[in-house]
Parts: sequence; C-alpha cells; structure tokens
Amino acid sequence: MVEIELDGQKVEVAEGSMVMHAAEKAKIYIPHFCYHKKLSIAANCRMCLVDVEKAPKPMPACATPVTQGMIVRTKSDKAIKAQKSVMEFLLINHPLDCPICDQGGECQLQDLAVGYGGGSSRYQEEKRVVAPKDVGPLISMEEMSRCIHCTRCVRFGQEIAGVMELGMSHRGEHSEIETFVGHTVDSELSGNMIDICPVGALTSKPFRYKARTWELSRRKSVSPHDSTGANLIVQVKNDRVLRVVPLENEAVNECWIADRDRYSYEALNGADRLTRPMLKQGGQWQEVDWQTALEYVANGLKQIKDQHGAAAIGALVSPHSTLEELHLATALVRGLGSDNIDHRLRHAEFPRYEGVRWLGLPIAALSQLQRVLVVGSDVNSRILDWRDRTTCVLFGDGAGAVVLQVTEEPGGLLSFVLGSDGSGAELLWVPAGGSRTPASRDTVEQRQHYIKMDGPAVFRFATTIMPEALLTALDRAGMSPQDVDLLIPHQANIRIINGARRRLDIREDAVFTNVDRYGNTSAASIPVALCEAIAEGRVHRGSNVAMVAFGAGLTWGAAVWKWNT
Ligand code: SF4
Ligand code: FES
Repeated sequence: MVEIELDGQKVEVAEGSMVMHAAEKAKIYIPHFCYHKKLSIAANCRMCLVDVEKAPKPMPACATPVTQGMIVRTKSDKAIKAQKSVMEFLLINHPLDCPICDQGGECQLQDLAVGYGGGSSRYQEEKRVVAPKDVGPLISMEEMSRCIHCTRCVRFGQEIAGVMELGMSHRGEHSEIETFVGHTVDSELSGNMIDICPVGALTSKPFRYKARTWELSRRKSVSPHDSTGANLIVQVKNDRVLRVVPLENEAVNECWIADRDRYSYEALNGADRLTRPMLKQGGQWQEVDWQTALEYVANGLKQIKDQHGAAAIGALVSPHSTLEELHLATALVRGLGSDNIDHRLRHAEFPRYEGVRWLGLPIAALSQLQRVLVVGSDVNSRILDWRDRTTCVLFGDGAGAVVLQVTEEPGGLLSFVLGSDGSGAELLWVPAGGSRTPASRDTVEQRQHYIKMDGPAVFRFATTIMPEALLTALDRAGMSPQDVDLLIPHQANIRIINGARRRLDIREDAVFTNVDRYGNTSAASIPVALCEAIAEGRVHRGSNVAMVAFGAGLTWGAAVWKWNT
C-alpha cells in the first residue's frame, strides 16, 4: 500500500493506483470527462489536472500513479487555473445548445461548466461543425459537434462490448468519432455508450426530444428479459415509460444493461397493443367499456361452470406477468373452483421441476472462471470479450452448447457475421399448425403440415449470401479470401457449396466437405466437419479457418478463426 496526502488528508491506496483512485477513496471530487471507473485510462481530456508537489506543471489525476509521500492538491490555485483553462478549450468547439440538448440536466460538461467555465468566451473564430451520422435505429449521432473526444464510447466497445464499432478518425480539430465506413452500431450493449458519453453527442433515438430529465419520475426495477435480472431504473412521464437506464449493482449488471433491457419499453406504448377491451360480435371486433367486457367474461365463465363443471375452466398465463398478476389469476381460477392454471406456454414436456437449480455461483464470480460450458446461449452474438462477465451474462438466446476457455495466446475467433432480415419468410414454410392456421381435419387432409420450400429461390439466396457474409467477416478480420487456409461451409448440397466457393474464388482443395457422406445436415454440420478436418490434419496451429452457413428461413452467419491450439 502507498500513502499519499490529498488536500491535506492522508489516503492509503494499492501500489499502482492513480491519484484519481485515491481521490475516489477519500471521496474528493476531481472534475473529469474521459476517466470512467470501468474503462482503461486514456487521459485525453485533461480536465482532471491537479497540483502535485514538486511537479513543475499540473498532472492528470487519472493517469498519475501514486508514490509514497506524494502531496496532491486538487483545489489549489494552480489546479483550479489548469482545470478552468481546459474547460475554456473544451468550450471552444462545443455548441451552446443546452436548451435543446437531450443531455441537458444530466450533462457532465454542463455541470462542470458551471463551476469551471467562464462567463463569456474569448474565442472569436468559427466553431467547427461535424456532420451527423446515421448509425442505426438506437443511437443518434446527429449532433457530433458536441463530442469532446473523450473516447469513452470507443473504449467501451473495445473493452466491454468486445466489438469495436466506433473509432476516432483524423487528427486535431478534425478528429471525429465514426463507425467503420458505412457500418451501423449493432452491438447488443450499444445503448451503454449513451450513458457514458459525458456530453449529448450520443443520444437515444427512441427517447430524443420526448422529455427533459427533470420531468421524469424514477422507479427501480429488474429486467424480465433473461435470467441475469439486470437492475433498472424506469423513467416515467405522464404515466408513460419514456426511458430505461441501468441501476448500478456491482453484484449483477455493474453499470451496464443490454439493449433489449433498455429499449423494450417501446413495446409498452406500441400502437398495435390492445388498450381497450373488445368483444367479437357477428364476426367483428367491437370496442366496449370495461363493465360490459367484464360482465361478458364473468357470464361466459359462469355458463361454462354450470354446464360443464369448474374443471372445464382453465387459464394459461404469460410467464412475463408480474407476481401480482399471477397471484390474481390464480385467485380467480381457484375462486371459480378450478385448479387448471399454468404459465408454461411453450413446453412440450412437463417433467417434475423443483424450480431452476442454482449452480452455486454468484454472477460476479463468473469472470474468475477458466473454462465455462455454456448451454443454450448464443455466445457468438456480437460478444467477443466473454471474459468480461458483463458481456457474458447479459444474453441468453440461441441454442447449442460451447466450452469457452481463457487463453493468453492471440487468435481464436477473429470476426463473425450473423444476419436475418425476414425477407425470405415465404420461401420456406409449413402452411398449417401455427396460430394463424390451426390444425384441423382439413389441414391434415390437404397435407398442409409438410414443409414447403421454393427451392430455386433458396438456392439463389444461399449462393449469394454465403460469399457476402464470408467477405464481410473476412473484411472485419483484416483478411481476403486468399488468406483462408480452410473453408468449412454449411454442408448443404455440393452445388451450393461450389457456387459459393467460385464466387469467393477460393481453391477447391481449401474447402472441407462431408456432404457426400452424410448429405445435407443443416448448419450444425459445421462443427462435425470441423472435427473431421482436425482429425484429418487439415487444421494446424495458425491456420485461418473460415466458416459460413445459411438457414433457408432466411438467416446467415460466417466466422473467421485463427486456430491456436
Ligand atoms: S461521442 Fe461522447 S463518449 Fe464518444 S468520444 Fe465523443 S464525447 Fe466521448
Ligand atoms: S479524466 Fe483525466 S485526462 Fe480525462
């Protein structure tokens, strides 16, 4: 441990800590922008300059390591003068649009400008203007002139989300935060960049101009979207949820949440939601008042009970209901004399559960594990830095199982692409059996329960999307098709494989297939083919292995690996 004197107070911190860490421990506030406790230190805003005894000039607290006996003043004339000077520089280019800025009221720059900014600007020249960028439906980069180049958003992508989607291009006053040419921000954790942007450069598209922060009331909540139970703050105005942000909880989600936790509130106010009771009369839906609707339902239930007995009544309740809703539904059904109530809507089997077993590990302990068997989770889903538990645990969709292992060696999964646009929904379908056309004698007699496929269209789709997806993945890995040592495609059919290979201009002997032995065995054939390729000595340490697959439903994916075992 090292002891320093900070504003006259003795503080002890671990060796290697920065002055900023000592200040946090002593609860002394040092103004800052680029420093964030969960990110690496960039030290590029210079707002945290402090006065270190014997140092000739002010030093950045976030990047100055503590030394035994160091004396630091954060509020001396020298420190304050330095901090005010930095603020003056930052405000040179920052637009004075606080009155219309979404960040107004919760902006670090706005707050610090009150304490450290001047009453007027000495800058007479033109301010710089940064062109807006469209990076997708969730994050707005309309007002990038507000950016102060702290690079928090860039570091977040690299270090927490595990996928670098934003970077800083150009130099000096031409510096700009941008996505890689033409790309959108797609990470499933992208909304966290809005939270950590200390100014209003990155804002939430769905929330923009909906409310000022001081108009919102706040409620604590827990995410219902997965088993992580991320802690949330739900922000409400006029009885409408307008924003959801993380509630910091070190034991669960730290200070991050997944985009689905952040943005799914939009469905609450969706235009296609049923908000008024309706009754179907004469084949037509009619809006009615609550009294009429409730009487109708009560009479219907009573009639069924009288005619067929209480056991003829049953209730299926959405598992997304609140405990209170589930309790009331149970009380209603039991009150009618029936025990038929369930929430397992999509289960085909009903073994005796004793609840979901706890594996004996708190979420926070996941980051200490060396090997993890993940079952039923889409670990490739834009999550590369799985060592970071925040990215590992926030997602729970998909299928399959995979063992993840920590390694210090470079390589492993370099890039991947996953896609689905729904455009091929009509190419592969089962006409009956779903909620749109329930099974009936007619549907069975008309053979509507067999899969139908538009084969030529699926063929065209596969031979187009496979090269496209793979080229994108190779591009992200900084490679070209010629760098691929082994391509393991979806073992669909040999014409599709050859069509895709020719478009990619990859040698025939660089493609591994086993379709001649097993036929088309779906995208799951890739791991089988990979194991066989390894057994046949086709994959070596350092090999560039590419994989590509499609689903005729229509989805696609590609991954590029540097084999390092
Ligand atoms: S966009 Fe925001 S978080 Fe990113 S560098 Fe600019 S100010 Fe920092
Ligand atoms: S917070 Fe220290 S330089 Fe930015």
